Amino acid sequence: MQEWEQEEPLIIERGKGAYLIDTEGKRYLDGTSSIWVNLHGHRHPTLDRAIKQQLDKIAHSSLFGLSNPPAIQLAQALIRIAPKGLTRVFYSDDGSTAVEIALKMAVQYWQLRRPEAGPKNTFLHLKLAYHGDTIGAVSVGNIDLFHGRFKSLLFPTAEAEPPYCYRCPLNMTYPSCRMACLDPIERIFKERHRELAGFIIEPLVQAAAGMLTSPPGYLKRVRELCTKYNVLLIADEVATGFGRTGKMFACQHEGVSPDLMAISKGLTGGYMPLAATLTTDEIYQAFLGTYADFKTFFHGHSYTGNPLGCAVALANIEVFKQEKTLARLQPKIKTMARLLQPLRQLPYVGDIRQWGFIAAIELVEDKMTRKPYPLEARMGHRVTQEARRQGLLLRPLGHIVVLLPPLSTDTSTLARMVAILHRAITTVTAAPSLT
Ligand SMILES: Cc1ncc(COP(=O)(O)O)c(C=O)c1O
Repeated sequence: MQEWEQEEPLIIERGKGAYLIDTEGKRYLDGTSSIWVNLHGHRHPTLDRAIKQQLDKIAHSSLFGLSNPPAIQLAQALIRIAPKGLTRVFYSDDGSTAVEIALKMAVQYWQLRRPEAGPKNTFLHLKLAYHGDTIGAVSVGNIDLFHGRFKSLLFPTAEAEPPYCYRCPLNMTYPSCRMACLDPIERIFKERHRELAGFIIEPLVQAAAGMLTSPPGYLKRVRELCTKYNVLLIADEVATGFGRTGKMFACQHEGVSPDLMAISKGLTGGYMPLAATLTTDEIYQAFLGTYADFKTFFHGHSYTGNPLGCAVALANIEVFKQEKTLARLQPKIKTMARLLQPLRQLPYVGDIRQWGFIAAIELVEDKMTRKPYPLEARMGHRVTQEARRQGLLLRPLGHIVVLLPPLSTDTSTLARMVAILHRAITTVTAAPSLT
């Protein structure tokens, strides 16, 4: 905050399509989709209309013992587009709460299913995982910069190395490694499956870690291991859901159906805070009983199933259909890869990772040794500040710069974004303080 207070504040007042407009009238390209949430551009007429129409009926009524038409219709729509087998929907407000709910449901499920067995209440997750900022979500996360200070508050978990191919923890190379990083995971399953309630994973892309993309077949193998060892697979699709990876959900690239799935961010196309945890009928059934059985899942938020949020989320799914968003995205994903290609030649660009419409540029102090810039150098921040001066808003993750435009971004706008990014990296890495 001390440094932020010294920077020129940027106050966004309006938006249109891929642009954000500040209080001075200056236009910026929205290179992060306003942190993953915006899909069809700002001020989309269908989404604007959905909120206005719902507002004419009611803004909010609770989901405690009640329901509302948009919440019901949205649950039906979500089941239609979700990976097969996910047929039950539990609403909440944001990605972190959707994850908390998945964790709590998994623990309670095992208590209800096998009351006689010992506690099955530990979670396996990957190192460098990020599942949100609430305490349960932080417990299954592992990014020291964000989470380290709170260690004393967290519950114990089992951790495994992620598939970070550029910096392989096993010093191997894909594909000759044959995904050897899955072997230690299987060992953990073998030794600890009795106590493991679930394996929580960001499918295909570990986002906050710096867009670590898993090799093809990795997720499918994780699903097989979970099934073999009777551990629930919890897919955190908060970031990857709603088209970001090129399919509606990342799990669908590998034909994977998780047991629980957390969604938020793109759920409302960037209009309202809303989240959901989807699960199977098998898990739902375990919670049924008379009141006196006390099988109820005692978890609820005041704004759960908010009608405005659900109405705009329904419209969001409708726009996917009307505008053939996913089909139109495919050539743009290829264009993004082509546009990013020349950046690979830059002397301080170590790696470029892309999956779908998500790209990350990993900046390194030394390309040969892959030595990253130290955090204190704020390299990513400096690049994004330069990009901002040139009219593109991005976010850094340490020495990694992330580009994820709204899915509706046309190719010429995409080219403009990449050109600014290119110039910003060149300008900042050539600065005298770094040579
Ligand atoms: C994979 C993943 N899970 C959960 C979250 C938390 O979502 P929220 O910020 O809406 O709480 C995020 C946020 O970036 C995320 O990337």
